[in-house]
Amino acid sequence: MKLLVLKDSQAVAQAAAEHILSFIHSKPGLNIGLATGKTQEGVYKALIERHRSIKLRIEAARFFMLDEYLGVDAMSSVAFQGQLRSSFLSKVGASLEALEVLDGNAQDRTWESERFERQIQEAGGIDLQLLGIGANGHIGFNEPGSDFESRTRVVELHAETIQANFHQNEPPFKLPKRAISQGLGTIMESHSILLLATGDSKARAIAEMISGPITEQLPASILQLHKNVSVIVDEAAASLLSEDRHKSSR
Ligand code: GLP
Repeated sequence: MKLLVLKDSQAVAQAAAEHILSFIHSKPGLNIGLATGKTQEGVYKALIERHRSIKLRIEAARFFMLDEYLGVDAMSSVAFQGQLRSSFLSKVGASLEALEVLDGNAQDRTWESERFERQIQEAGGIDLQLLGIGANGHIGFNEPGSDFESRTRVVELHAETIQANFHQNEPPFKLPKRAISQGLGTIMESHSILLLATGDSKARAIAEMISGPITEQLPASILQLHKNVSVIVDEAAASLLSEDRHKSSR
């Protein structure tokens, strides 16, 4: 794992945007796996900013969702599809068809999960998968206890994940408790991965992901087995890393 520790969330977003841009420039028909969440929002904003000055050449790129809630209106602001389209893709000139969606309203979710996996395979795999991390070490919506071999499927969200992901004025009982997510096995097949984390609420998960045992209790720890993972974190998220690991990133 390559680790980069930067001062704050803004620096992380800028560095992540540069990392993504270098991939876009190296391969016009890139397949990018898109994550959602607060950490990614800054990255998408930085890319939109760059698009204003240099025009991102992403006409040939394809985008794949990482996860989606079950049973929410796909274009609403709760749905990841709606968020990705309105806060990122529509602002950098990506066509509607460029996003391979995970349909959280599909009647047959097993079929939908298999269809999505086939889309990835037929596209030649995901070149760059963006990831955030939950405070409990989840990636995508693969909660602690998820099988390392898991594929795209319906998952139950842990209470702490539901709480962390919603605004305080929206009571959790109204919000989805289930989602559809790329599996850990699916994520591990991405050719390269960029994981971002900011803030001290992520410090324990980051320390365990990098230096702890590889265990299904900390899903992100499986990334220790991937050959091409870059991790960019701010100082707060790096605060529980051993001094050696911290220094090695300077
Ligand atoms: C959700 C997403 C994850 C993301 C996590 C962290 O659970 N499904 O993919 O990594 O949130 O989000 P944030 O960046 O808002 O902390």
